[in-house]
Amino acid sequence: MEIRRIQIFDTTLRDGEQTPGVSLQTEEKVEIALALAKLQVDVIEAGFPVASPGDFEAVSQIAARVKGPVIAALARANVKDIDTAYQAIKAAAKPRIHTFIATSDIHLEHKLKMTRLQLLERVDEAVRFAKSLTADIEFSAEDASRSDRDFLCQVFTRAIAAGATVINVPDTVGYTTPLEFGALITYIREHVPNISQAAISVHCHDDLGMAVANSLAAVAAGAEQVECTINGLGERAGNAALEEVVMAINTRREFYSAITNVNTRQIYRTSRLVSTLTGIAVPPNKAIVGDNAFAHESGIHQHGVLNNPLTYEIISPEVVGVSRNAIVLGKHSGRHAFEERLKHLGYEIDTDMVNNLFIKFKDLADRKKMVFDKDIEALIVEKAAVRPE
Ligand code: KIV
Ligand code: ZN
Repeated sequence: MEIRRIQIFDTTLRDGEQTPGVSLQTEEKVEIALALAKLQVDVIEAGFPVASPGDFEAVSQIAARVKGPVIAALARANVKDIDTAYQAIKAAAKPRIHTFIATSDIHLEHKLKMTRLQLLERVDEAVRFAKSLTADIEFSAEDASRSDRDFLCQVFTRAIAAGATVINVPDTVGYTTPLEFGALITYIREHVPNISQAAISVHCHDDLGMAVANSLAAVAAGAEQVECTINGLGERAGNAALEEVVMAINTRREFYSAITNVNTRQIYRTSRLVSTLTGIAVPPNKAIVGDNAFAHESGIHQHGVLNNPLTYEIISPEVVGVSRNAIVLGKHSGRHAFEERLKHLGYEIDTDMVNNLFIKFKDLADRKKMVFDKDIEALIVEKAAVRPE
């Protein structure tokens, strides 16, 4: 079976920074970019240089100082944006210009006020100009998922003929569904005659909570690059979460016949860094990086995990850089987990005493949501149990 290597394009510093309330300083952006390089993402979209002098400066700094990944900069499909993007990334060892324009009729009519024919010409000019500056060109058809499929294929054909090396299919408004999006990728593969000259990328937003599912459906249908952000940050409801996309592919690599280059052990610390610098907290029940992602509260689950983590864990916490699974003691915890915690704390206590303490523990757990180590130690002191030397 052929195993494909899916390229991970991180846009935390561009689409992620479009999260309402988030604004990062240049040094913070460089710190995140260095962490993304350690995480071994393939592409870092460092920003949108024409948007502001601050964005230009941050992209330039990242291009000069961050080694490893391709450094991409966003530009609308016009000469000024594209030239400004190139000036910001030209110091990078592997620069990429990412130019975009919307292709849906709703955007053509109400935003761009262009005909389809005019748009095709604009795409051709923009991509050719970008290509005159550097070799690696990504072209995005904004609102692709609500565009006419045949027109979308014409646009991609034109972009590739003009020199695009990656064509990106954004679900800009998070409207699509996994079956539909997978079918769109198949349609593009079958109806863009020069598709073999470019890689297919996807970029999904989470308005209906399906960004990760849609990205994975696209991978199953043959997409080669996934655009995503740490902690799923991004415009409105956010983008596909990098940690979820990567760990889904990693955990189900046989199903997807794919892997990524990401060093998964860096996932947790990168997530925490981004959360600290953006001020956007990670919800406790967030997949992969939430505080509860590896916590087992019920007694039945705790017993199983203590016997063999495979019973209730599909990912070892160490694989994403979390040091151990957190057995949270609470009213659903069983005697087995309680006894293990006593041992972990260094107590050797006879069976009668454990039984006694367990009754007290259950009583406490009924009153408190979570029982911490210090609460258990307090119970032991009460019972005058002896800690070994
Ligand atoms: O959501 C979107 O369409 C975008 C493009 C600029 C790729 O962010
Ligand atoms: Zn986007």
